[in-house]
Amino acid sequence: MAAECIVGAQWGDEGKGKVIDYFARKADYVVRWAGGGNAGHTILLPDGRKFVLHLLPAGVFHQGVVNVLGAGVVLDPWQVLEEMEALERAGLRVDPSRLRISLRAHMVLPWHKALDQAREKDGRPGRIGTTGKGIGPCYEDKAGRRGLRMADLASREGLASSLERLARERNLLLESLYGEAPIDPARVEASLVEAGERLLPFLEDTGLLLRKALGEGKSVLFEGAQGVLLDLDHGTYPYVTSSSASSGGVFSGAGIPFGGLDRVIGVAKAYTTRVGEGPFPSELHGEAGERLRKAGGEFGATTGRPRRCGWLDCAALRYSLALSGAREMVLTKLDVLSGQGPLKILASYEGMDGFPSSAGEVSRLRPRYEEVPGWDEPLGGVRSFEGLPGPARDYVLRVEDLTGVRISMVSVGPGRDEVFRR
Ligand code: IMP
Repeated sequence: MAAECIVGAQWGDEGKGKVIDYFARKADYVVRWAGGGNAGHTILLPDGRKFVLHLLPAGVFHQGVVNVLGAGVVLDPWQVLEEMEALERAGLRVDPSRLRISLRAHMVLPWHKALDQAREKDGRPGRIGTTGKGIGPCYEDKAGRRGLRMADLASREGLASSLERLARERNLLLESLYGEAPIDPARVEASLVEAGERLLPFLEDTGLLLRKALGEGKSVLFEGAQGVLLDLDHGTYPYVTSSSASSGGVFSGAGIPFGGLDRVIGVAKAYTTRVGEGPFPSELHGEAGERLRKAGGEFGATTGRPRRCGWLDCAALRYSLALSGAREMVLTKLDVLSGQGPLKILASYEGMDGFPSSAGEVSRLRPRYEEVPGWDEPLGGVRSFEGLPGPARDYVLRVEDLTGVRISMVSVGPGRDEVFRR
């Protein structure tokens, strides 16, 4: 293994947590390059314990792996500490030798969360259905060149005045536009300094660290969060997250040179889900969607919201796999399709190659479906492609045909061992 990147090929929640955990076993470094506490990577350990990680890379479950939060990540300092404490209570200590945080990563501060949540209140026009974790407003301040970075905790120089400046702008919006209470920068500073003292030993120029590691031939796994269709530039704008969720973001977000990736793996669920607002061409409404939601346990790992469910959209997959340079795919949750009756696969959009650039256009697409036979057998115990019932094998092969990308691994349950390679 050299430099590998795992991306979600749909709208997030593809089951990346388990796949990353699988690949992390052989990695020296596991790196997040974008997003923040909006992610929810679920990992089921062999002893039955279930963990949901929001910020820390999934390499924390493997001794000997150095976990990195790169410059493109936005992180809530208090949330990082909470996540570390939760792991420590479970007997997994994350010390500075196992977690490195970029000095350049921006901090998600209380104004960001308050603004995100205020904009998302019921009935507000332009709702995106965000996770409410402050991600969009934090990236706004980053792009607006008024954000605070982890480096500001290290030097503390000008911390109070930077917070004051941010508070002046953000409180104005909170109070005047949204009728919310302002947030006192002095209180934030006191709490931030305290959190900063604890985080200081974890901070470093992680770009330098990774470039050295790659130069020495170490195995580096880049852990995608969200999914390509939620990418700020290439997703279903404006119903996207505010970061570069596609593999293109690795270079700037982690600070490695172009060409530094040897392999990109796209993770796709055997059907499609989406949380929040926004177009979803193969969405199933009513009872059929409900059946998939129930069978797949499709409720958000970060917010608990029910996920919208639909058939596998191979036209969208072709776009996201091509965009991210994935030459292979991991297909997850194939077991969920057992007992769902005849299945449909969205094969193409009539008259459209690629993916539309606006949400309005997506809603006018005319999807073309193929109906394929389903199967009733449970798949939890299957450990080889040959062990799958015939229609499940045909389903996998048809998805490969329609996407033009090889499925190198199939997951048939939440457990670490419920997976097989092809
Ligand atoms: P935000 O990232 O919280 O700003 O949310 C923007 C959009 O991305 C919303 O539709 C969220 O539901 C979606 N989103 C963000 N993170 C995830 C994720 O990890 N899985 C699935 N959807 C996500």
